[in-house]
Amino acid sequence: MNPKRILFDTDPGIDDALAILLALASPEIKIEGISVVHGNCSVDQALTNTLSVLELAKAAQIPVSRGFELPLVQPSLLAPETHGDNGLGYAQLPAPQTRPVHQHGVEFLIEKIMSAPGEITLVCIGPLTNLAVAIRKEPRIVQAVRDVIIMGGAIRHEGNTTPQAEFNVYVDPHAAHVVFHSGMPMTLVPLDVTYQCALTGQDVARLQKIKSPIPTFIADSTRFYMEFHDEYQKIDGCIINDPLALALTFAPELCDYEEHFIDVDISGGVSMGNTFADFYKMTKKPANMKVALGVRARDFIELFLERMEKLSLSLFGA
Ligand code: RIB
Ligand code: CA
Repeated sequence: MNPKRILFDTDPGIDDALAILLALASPEIKIEGISVVHGNCSVDQALTNTLSVLELAKAAQIPVSRGFELPLVQPSLLAPETHGDNGLGYAQLPAPQTRPVHQHGVEFLIEKIMSAPGEITLVCIGPLTNLAVAIRKEPRIVQAVRDVIIMGGAIRHEGNTTPQAEFNVYVDPHAAHVVFHSGMPMTLVPLDVTYQCALTGQDVARLQKIKSPIPTFIADSTRFYMEFHDEYQKIDGCIINDPLALALTFAPELCDYEEHFIDVDISGGVSMGNTFADFYKMTKKPANMKVALGVRARDFIELFLERMEKLSLSLFGA
């Protein structure tokens, strides 16, 4: 069976980097390209990190494009406390030798999707600024894209950035509003499922039995991320949000889904960026997306670990 063709829109970021590695370790999918967006760190730092992670995994041939550095309306909000000043925690990767493509991330997304109608799965694991502008600039991508997986939001779950809002949506709620109301075939992967997926120190120690730059990168980046989760949220381990969203492109059975009308609060008050589902159909509006509300968490973590082990051995030998 031909691999599923995917595009990332991402803000690497520690868990974003792990999602890119998982994609490279999964023969069921092929990364057609990566557009980068502000979020966990500046767009330029995220661009550097993307290029460096691809070089680490010997995948520098994958085209990367620089997208927006600011939200549509909100002021910039980055997350150095969560991902470190360099966006990859304690990991120190060599400066990349490869260069991004000349196109802006928005043009890159539009061109890739329009050149292969019905073929491209878009995996959005950062703030949605790039996708929102792409929809406004070329509305035909709504019909041309095969499907869209979005890591973002919190439905019944508390927020991780404000008490009511998840980071990707809170950073650019206006962009999320454009995307949620676009009519694209979307699947939302909210904190309700990702917060059940913690990578633990034991999991990382298992990977480190393989002497290779990949486990070393995972250990160094997630050590910072685990310190954040312990200090701010008393969580043992670290929540790997973005790899779960990516995994659903080839293993959708890891989650259970419902279809609902889902919206995001952009009224600017205390619940700015809050995402909510119309469970009782009170708005009379049709469902606009599938939302993952159940997950087989340890099955997913096991899949992640197995594929990181295989990637480490395939790239750098036993
Ligand atoms: O709230 C978690 C999301 O925000 C993840 O995508 C993480 O990388 C950050 O972008
Ligand atoms: Ca992210």
